Amino acid sequence: MDDSTAQTPERTAEATAGPELADLRVAVIGAGNMGGPVVRTLLAAGVRPAHLRIANSGPASSERAAAELGATAAASRTEALEDADVVVLGVKPYQILDLVAELRGDLPAGAVVVSLAAGITLAQIEQALPEGSPVVRAMPNTPISVGEGAVGLMRGTAVTAAQRELVHALFSHAGVAVDITEDQVHAFIAAAGSLAGFAFAIIEAMTEEAVRQGLKRDLADALVQQTLRGAATMLLESGTHPALAKAGVCSPGGTTAEGYAAFEREGVRAGLAATMAAAAERSRQLTED
Ligand SMILES: NC(=O)c1ccc[n+]([C@@H]2O[C@H](COP(=O)([O-])OP(=O)(O)OC[C@H]3O[C@@H](n4cnc5c(N)ncnc54)[C@H](OP(=O)(O)O)[C@@H]3O)[C@@H](O)[C@H]2O)c1
Repeated sequence: MDDSTAQTPERTAEATAGPELADLRVAVIGAGNMGGPVVRTLLAAGVRPAHLRIANSGPASSERAAAELGATAAASRTEALEDADVVVLGVKPYQILDLVAELRGDLPAGAVVVSLAAGITLAQIEQALPEGSPVVRAMPNTPISVGEGAVGLMRGTAVTAAQRELVHALFSHAGVAVDITEDQVHAFIAAAGSLAGFAFAIIEAMTEEAVRQGLKRDLADALVQQTLRGAATMLLESGTHPALAKAGVCSPGGTTAEGYAAFEREGVRAGLAATMAAAAERSRQLTED
């Protein structure tokens, strides 16, 4: 893989149009908590619902997921793979290598395999597939389902430039899609993959305090969520450093300065850093297991 460390994130929906996706056939094996949002972003990018076949652990589950996501249920994993140009693997990491071994005979020649599994390397997946199979690891987060997420893309040794472009086109409505190296995936998980979960926890904690301070819950929900979205949008649109934006709202002797002093005193910054570091460390452990 080439060195892509200097890549600047680009808002994917604003990226220039890539390859035509309407004729592409995609199989998603495992459309659960993460595979589901991936299905939504692939459909938003232009894959036709009739061409996006889902196979979960059984037909009833595949039907349920397909109905909820607006795609097509396959009767079996084998049927999902028929004529597939791209195969997305959304099962749990511990299942993926057995699944790849089981599916390898049914994989259409040249199909690009996209693994969502944390902790399973490109080399491990490549080894389980026929030599020369194009493999991509995608590390997404759940906000991709509303076009406001992030996905880190890692390419195996056999992936061509056209296949790279194809995978970027598939994630063109995810929010931000960037090429990363496998070494960077642990930091990416801390800063995007798992960060969505931490953001939900932070929002929940802030909302509870807003309620404790006397706001009705629906108002607290709206104020916290809108303010965090607005703060992120301001930074994204202006490119302002967050420390400068923070200084701009801390008037001398004012409420924000007082609150910010408590933020530091109570160790919130250190707690956030420890939270992200723990996620990155767990990712490293999972890869070594
Ligand atoms: N959750 C996240 O935020 C996140 C973020 C980044 C990456 N990931 C990665 O995404 C992958 C899936 O995680 P998840 O949280 O989405 O798990 P999940 O919600 O449990 O989804 C797993 C899916 O796999 C299906 N499945 C299980 N066994 C299968 C089989 N033998 N054949 C076909 N489908 C099968 C399940 O179907 P049933 O529903 O029928 O059991 C389910 O739809 C993992 O590898 C994880 O590392 C997750």
